[in-house]
Formats: sequence, C-alpha cells, structure tokens
Amino acid sequence: MDISVRKGEVVEQACDLLVLHAFSGSKGLVGDLKTVDEALGGKVMKFMKEDGFKGKSDSTFLMRTHGEIAPKRILVLGLGKQEEFTVESVRQASAVSVNIATSLKVKTVLSAIQAFDGETVTVGDWAQAMAEGARLAEYRFDVYKKPSKSTVAIKKFDLLLQGGRDVRLAQKGVELGDLMAKGTILARDLVNTPAQDMHPQTLVDTAKNLAKGKGSIRVRVYDREALKRMGAGGILGVAQGSEYPPYLVHMVYKPRKPTTKRVALVGKAVTFDSGGLSLKPAQFMETMKIDMGGSAAVLGAFSVIDEIAPSCEVHGIFGAVENMPSGKAMRPGDVLVAMNKKTIEVLNTDAEGRLTLADTLCFAVKQKPQAIIDLATLTGACVVALGEEYTGLMSNNDELSTRILESANTAGEKMWRLPLEKNYKKLLKSQVADMQNVGSRWGGALTAGLFLEEFVGKTPWAHLDIAGPAYAERDIDAYTKKGATGHGVRTLLRYLKSL
Ligand code: BES
Ligand code: ZN
Ligand code: ZN
Repeated sequence: MDISVRKGEVVEQACDLLVLHAFSGSKGLVGDLKTVDEALGGKVMKFMKEDGFKGKSDSTFLMRTHGEIAPKRILVLGLGKQEEFTVESVRQASAVSVNIATSLKVKTVLSAIQAFDGETVTVGDWAQAMAEGARLAEYRFDVYKKPSKSTVAIKKFDLLLQGGRDVRLAQKGVELGDLMAKGTILARDLVNTPAQDMHPQTLVDTAKNLAKGKGSIRVRVYDREALKRMGAGGILGVAQGSEYPPYLVHMVYKPRKPTTKRVALVGKAVTFDSGGLSLKPAQFMETMKIDMGGSAAVLGAFSVIDEIAPSCEVHGIFGAVENMPSGKAMRPGDVLVAMNKKTIEVLNTDAEGRLTLADTLCFAVKQKPQAIIDLATLTGACVVALGEEYTGLMSNNDELSTRILESANTAGEKMWRLPLEKNYKKLLKSQVADMQNVGSRWGGALTAGLFLEEFVGKTPWAHLDIAGPAYAERDIDAYTKKGATGHGVRTLLRYLKSL
C-alpha cells in the first residue's frame, strides 16, 4: 500500500473509494462533504438522513456515485463529538476505512483531511495518525498460512488536502506515521513468530540485521562464557534448562550531534516460557511465545531509530533466554547470584522474567543512563489488575513516569501507573538468600516491580508490565486485531523524540 498526499478538487479525484469525515451534532454539512453533496444534487444528505447517520463515532455511511463524480463510492466516517476528538479518533477512522476498503476489495482509496473549527489536531498529526491507522489495520501475519486468493490488497491510500493547507507538513506526518507503523509491525512479526523459529539466537540476528549499514547503531553480543565472566547468574539460571544458549544483546544508537544525554531501553526476552520445573498448565502455556514482547518493542523502536533521529544516545539491552524444564534446569529452592552480587532464592521457576531482568538492569545501570525504561510481559497479576488493554507502569521517578504516560497518551497506547509500595518489600524476604523471586498471592505486579527496583539503584527508572496488551486474545479495535500488537514501540519512539 502506497500512501501519499494530494491536493485538488474532491469531486475530480478518480478513486475506488473516497473517504470523508463528519462530526456528530454539527448543523449541516461542511468542507469536502458539502462539496460532494452539492455535486450529487443533495443525495448524500438525503441518504444519510434515511440511514440515520449522524456522525457518531464508529458509525459509517457508504454509497455509490454512479459516475456522477470521479470517485466511484463515498464512505463517510463518524468522528463523534468535536470536543472529544483526538488523534486516536483519526487512527481509528483511518483503520476503519482500510478495513471497509479491504472487504469491498477496492484498490485505490482517497481519504480527505477534514477541516474543522479550533483545529485541536494539526494537519501533520492528522496525516501521521492516518498513516499509522492504515498501516496497522492492513497488517496480517500469514507466514505460516496458505495465501488466501480472495484478498485484494489496497494499492494506493492517498490523503487529500484542501485549500491553503501545507502539503509538506502532511507529508512529514505520513513519513513519521510510516516509521511508527514500521517499528510496530516488526515487533508484531517477532512476537507472532512461533517459538520453534524464535530462539535467543534469532533475536541476536534481528539486532545485528537492523544495525547493518547504519553507522549510528552498533551491536555487542555476550554469549554464555561472557555471561559467566560478568556474573549474570539470573540469565544463566533461567537458560539452564534449554537446549538454546542465552545471549545478552547491547545495541547503542548515537546521534550525529554528540551528546551526554543517554537513555536505556531494556526488554524481557524469554523466547518461550514453559514455566520451567514450576511448569505452567497447558492453557497458560498456549501463548507463551509472546514472552519476548518487551525485547520485540525495543527492537521495533531500534529498527527505525536512525530515521526518527532522537537527539539523545539510546541503549537497547535484553537478555535472551528460553525457560524450559529439563534435567539441567534450575530447581525451586536454588539460589542464583545476580550481576550486582545479590543472591536470589528461586521459589518459583515461572517467575523467570525478573531473574533475567535483574542482570539486564544491572548491565543497563553500568551504562550510566539518565533514565532506564524496561518493558516486560512480566505478570499475569498485572492483567488481573488492569485488564488486557492496559500496561502497568511502575517507577521510582515521578517526572519520568509523567513523560512516559504523556508519550503513551499521544501514541494511542493505554498505560496506568501502579504504586511501588515499600511496605510490600518484606514479602520478598528470604530465609536463605538476600531475596526470593516471588511474593505472596496478592499484588503480584507490584512485588515484581519491587523486585526489579533492587537492581536499578538510584537511576531514574520506569517498568512497563505489558503482559496484557502485548498480545490481543481477541480483536481490540480497528487496528489492533487478535495476535501480537507491537505495544510499546510507539510510546518509546514518541518518548525518545520528545527528549
Ligand atoms: N510470562 C509470565 C507472565 C505472563 C502471564 C505474561 C500472562 C503474559 C500473559 C511470567 O513469567 C510468569 O509466569 N509470571 C508468573 C509469576 C508468578 C509465578 C509469581 C505469573 O504471573 O503467574
Ligand atoms: Zn514465567
Ligand atoms: Zn515469563
């Protein structure tokens, strides 16, 4: 699907489907919709009335034009109340137009950027949201499927601008939206790939490949021997039961202009989480190929970081492992020594993410960043607390926390802050080691967060538990279908851009 920006008279644009937008509660038609209605002798207004279309959000109106104007069909999308209108409304509308165009099997779509009073959404932001919504709605994962003969791909998805509007701004928006979608789609592909084809080595290769030919990114990989020398007992412990060796991957992006600003992005990278000897029940294991979703988000962000060109140095770090039971696997009761020499009693081998993150966070701290953000499909408890659509954010720093929540909000990713309650730390006290890897039955997302906090020292840090939103068990909205979502990538990129 090619996305570009056009200017011109709306009724003269040849296309299979012209997409227009309407707010609810507005008196009469405005802009392109009014122009089209006039060219069709008031039929649009008449049929919209007959259908009861009032511009409510998620409502749609479709009609043929029978050769009276150049576009063959028009689709009007309701944007809801103008006061409640955000960039997310545009993303959803754009995705709806792609979904409808796909079901109609049309090849060329032209979507008009609606002018409106107040303009709370700029033309650039509107265009960016259109590109994001369209590309993410178009996404399919069919590597392991026989290609369906009946699907017709949309060839052109153009944005139409009116009057004195700035084409350059819209084009810039499309470019940015394309990058956000590209990073998100890489993360989706990685997470959707079954664990039989997604080993720790595969994540290493992905990191190396995305750095290829880019002078701004370098990648270092530490293998099992190197991890032993570094004292990464957490990563090594979890990896013990697997046939596939562990790796610690360290990517560094350096901006053209030298800077002292430095951010570390850390991802959980468990390519399959069987639970280990504390084996998961079969049903809970079904989706556990997604347990590298944190690292997928970091890789997704890194895949476009050169083009997004943040002004700060960015480190991407993950410890890739597979969590399997075997004669060599770590046992409940074993004590591991993390990179900062803290000892951890492993009471449940299924709480493995925090063991790998312990070392990875220690490694991140050594890079002396001003902020660390980790993303991890860490706890089922977080999904119990916030449901499938929200990320749980935990942080030792209010400013960092606020910035991330703001980035998430504009990116259209749902996040909610949870407390790092100090009084719950005692739940991690162990009889035999400095700490144990599980708390009590309650507040599991928070005790996991508190566990991680032990490894970041004073560095401003935010932990994003993405166990819910990394993977959609069912269709969530117009551009988030069942399967991997690539959640986190767009927030990370927005955040990096804002620095
Ligand atoms: N990878 C899981 C968490 C998870 C659950 C991710 C559901 C995505 C969807 C994690 O390693 C895990 O097993 N956590 C345990 C922790 C418990 C043993 C303290 C959990 O949440 O049950
Ligand atoms: Zn687990
Ligand atoms: Zn896990």
